[in-house]
Amino acid sequence: MVAKILSGREISAKVRQELKEKVTKLKAKGLAPGLAMVRVGEDPASVSYVKQKGKTTEELGIYSETVVLPEETSEEKLLATIAELNNDPRFHGILVQLPLPRHISQDRVINAIDPMKDADCFHPVNVGRLLIGDPYLLPCTPHGVQQILIRSGYSPEGKHVVICGRSNLNGKPLFAILVQKRAGANATVTVCHTGTKNLPEITRSADILVAAMGSPKFIKANMVKEGAVVIDVGVNRIEDATKKSGFRLIGDTDFEALKEKVEAITPVPGGVGPMTVTMLMWNTIMAAETQTGITVG
Ligand code: GUN
Repeated sequence: MVAKILSGREISAKVRQELKEKVTKLKAKGLAPGLAMVRVGEDPASVSYVKQKGKTTEELGIYSETVVLPEETSEEKLLATIAELNNDPRFHGILVQLPLPRHISQDRVINAIDPMKDADCFHPVNVGRLLIGDPYLLPCTPHGVQQILIRSGYSPEGKHVVICGRSNLNGKPLFAILVQKRAGANATVTVCHTGTKNLPEITRSADILVAAMGSPKFIKANMVKEGAVVIDVGVNRIEDATKKSGFRLIGDTDFEALKEKVEAITPVPGGVGPMTVTMLMWNTIMAAETQTGITVG
């Protein structure tokens, strides 16, 4: 059996089309959703991510501006920039691209974003709301994983989902989403991490396995059940002289080996990655509707 390849690119294109139509309708009612992005420094991955996000806002008709601050910017200056954006009614969503330079406290910066404008869903208020089952927005990458599963006909309901990785960005919020008592979730969720004993035994019991540990090709064929559904959240940059950029992306799973054994798997690139940006657009639009009371259903 050769696995079905779950194209995040194709699913993304479909969701983006739906969102684009929504933006058109909102604009007809006088609401132009807006997203402000802040980048500090010139980290190449961050430059590329922010550019991609900006391009996607244009595609969907979302108003966006990017504030670029130099690497040596003080925390005080960054906090002042966020305060301005919090008070600027053109922006319904704000995101500060991570990681930040070491002299700036990531926690203080995230805490400074108005929770109502927290497009990434990183603010403790929004993380807490998600955990108690009353979410405002959903964090983008985990929400993208859930959408890939649902839209590919692999609803996590009643399934054993094993997540490898407990980061605040991916593993923990994905647990919080999939454990919710609601349609498209309601899964039995196990979170594995570096302290887990008998990892292969646990991963082999997964109906749905999510690899989000940030370790290239970590999940081998002997770690998955035949017929499992595998979602690869990994984005590892590997040097590759044949590429113009000098690198290529590989995931946290041994994709070539797994695709001979599993029911379905997401590729890297073209799997979860495009969904992250799409769900950010989703959040910007939702935030705009909530803040203004103007909705199109
Ligand atoms: N850095 C890596 N992923 C993300 C993300 O989803 N949002 C932000 N703001 N920074 C990131």
